[in-house]
Amino acid sequence: MVRLQPAPDRSPLENLAQETLGAIRARGTYRRMRVLEGAQAPRMRVGGREVLLFAGSNYLDLSHHSEVVEAASRAAREWGCAAGGSRLINGNLSLHETLEGELAEFLGTQATLAFTTGYAANVGVIPALVGEGDVVLSDALSHASVVDGCRLSKAALRVFPHADLEALEDALRELAASARRVLVVANGVYSMDGDTAPLAELVPLAKRWGAIVLIDDAHGTGTLGATGRGTIELAGVEADVDIWMGTLGKALGSFGAFVAGSESLRELLVNAARSFIFSCALAPPQVAAARAALRVMRAQPWRREQLQANAGRLRRRLAGHGISTAPSTTQIVPVVIGDNARTMALCERLLARGFYAQGIRHPSVPAETARLRLTPMATHRPEEIDALADAIAAELAAPA
Ligand SMILES: Cc1ncc(COP(=O)(O)O)c(C=O)c1O
Repeated sequence: MVRLQPAPDRSPLENLAQETLGAIRARGTYRRMRVLEGAQAPRMRVGGREVLLFAGSNYLDLSHHSEVVEAASRAAREWGCAAGGSRLINGNLSLHETLEGELAEFLGTQATLAFTTGYAANVGVIPALVGEGDVVLSDALSHASVVDGCRLSKAALRVFPHADLEALEDALRELAASARRVLVVANGVYSMDGDTAPLAELVPLAKRWGAIVLIDDAHGTGTLGATGRGTIELAGVEADVDIWMGTLGKALGSFGAFVAGSESLRELLVNAARSFIFSCALAPPQVAAARAALRVMRAQPWRREQLQANAGRLRRRLAGHGISTAPSTTQIVPVVIGDNARTMALCERLLARGFYAQGIRHPSVPAETARLRLTPMATHRPEEIDALADAIAAELAAPA
């Protein structure tokens, strides 16, 4: 590689930034942030124009639900806008403990512990469980926060091919005699493909070989399972999952995350998860919003049912146009295009037609599998779903 000479009139930081950004542009993965104006709703303004939003994680449309907003406003008035510190110093409010109790009751676990984000949960939990001499077996499509948690833990990371139970069993067999401790990590829903992990087989398999099991169900929480408890409920493995992570910032329309499991898991995390110990606690309005959203989600199963019905409709309508959305079975519906530039150009053309559907490129997905990631909401109307599918079909059929 030919290294550019630093420009003499630029600071080291400016040189570094321009060199790195130049390389990112050359790879076709330069990103910029789009400005959305208003609440995350099926119909909203993006870049000054009215669009249908198919690019969010507010799946159940709860982030601006009147009860959720009212709960957050009341909490801001009564408790203020900040917890004011970390939970172990001065930020442990009774509000946090109440939310955690309600989440544990909902999930049927002994305990839960709230984290400020799902990212913070994964990078905190994994190093609290494993370290040097241990092994993490992680699905190839595990979220970046799982990968970063593994890196921080200093445990050896072994990646098994996506959802490949035979490869997982081979690794478990091999490690049974040699590793001090084995942690198996999988997502409940894979966030860029919309498929679910084969938990009904994966969880008992890992347990049979004496591994600890962590399931990141960021996108399953509230959206799947008979009562919204996610992929773990869907697969009927509630009793076997050791550590259950879910987010409050997606279907539950607030912010933050929880880790659920036994009392001793909670006690361990309070004492050993650095992202919990050394970080400010969730703010009262976020906690109150999550509590209210949990109540609404439980009282209104139609939201989850309509969400999945809308996703099914979108998949069927696209299939009718000959467009594959494999392997999606959930509210995350990918249309793989392949080429980065083509994907982003398609995204812009859809925006011009009034549809905001985000293009996703490497490193969020494997190279050459750039895609539109479509996420309908529970409150999209059937004709809006159809219009999106028809617009994608029309754009894909148009000459490049
Ligand atoms: C599978 C998965 N895990 C964890 C996270 C991180 O959650 P958060 O956005 O709350 O940090 C995400 C976020 O997109 C995710 O998709």
